[in-house]
Amino acid sequence: MSAHPLHHGDEPLSGQGMPLLYNLVYCSQASDGVGAAAVDHIIAASRRGNPPRGITGLLVFGSGIFFQWLEGPRDSVLALMSHLKKDPRHHNVVLLTSGEEVRERLFPDWDMELVTAEAVRDVLVDALDSAQDPRNADALRALLQRLDAGLLGDAARG
Ligand SMILES: Cc1cc2nc3c(=O)[nH]c(=O)nc-3n(C[C@H](O)[C@H](O)[C@H](O)COP(=O)(O)O)c2cc1C
Repeated sequence: MSAHPLHHGDEPLSGQGMPLLYNLVYCSQASDGVGAAAVDHIIAASRRGNPPRGITGLLVFGSGIFFQWLEGPRDSVLALMSHLKKDPRHHNVVLLTSGEEVRERLFPDWDMELVTAEAVRDVLVDALDSAQDPRNADALRALLQRLDAGLLGDAARG
């Protein structure tokens, strides 16, 4: 059962009341001149754009690299992804993982949360501590393994 109320609207629910969620993780390189002010604008646009699409997630920015976790209905996530791939504020967009599962949201309360590269490990560990859905725990362990394997090492060294 979800520990959080599902207030994201249109997603289909499974028999257990958990949503069928598509999640997608990518990283990209910030374009020249993209810094804190531009990232604030991206977050503001995301907080407007994501709730009507039923999308939640987090955006990590550090050392000129973005890393974003998106979760929500499949069509919404894929439509947003093809839209934001064209955003000139980043390039070299690399899809890391994607998939669709019946499970709780990892970040039910975050329309789009900005996390510093230094803090991302703590965020993932906190989410793992409070994950009740074993699929979430598995996904979080996989993300932590990627992090600890150095995928985000440059960003984390900030
Ligand atoms: C790294 C990155 C992440 C973004 N994440 C989102 C997001 O989660 N949701 C969103 O609506 N826009 C996001 N955007 C902004 C979109 O590319 C776009 O500017 C925004 O949706 C407004 O689009 P519009 O001007 O066509 O209305 C992101 C942009 C970048 C560069």
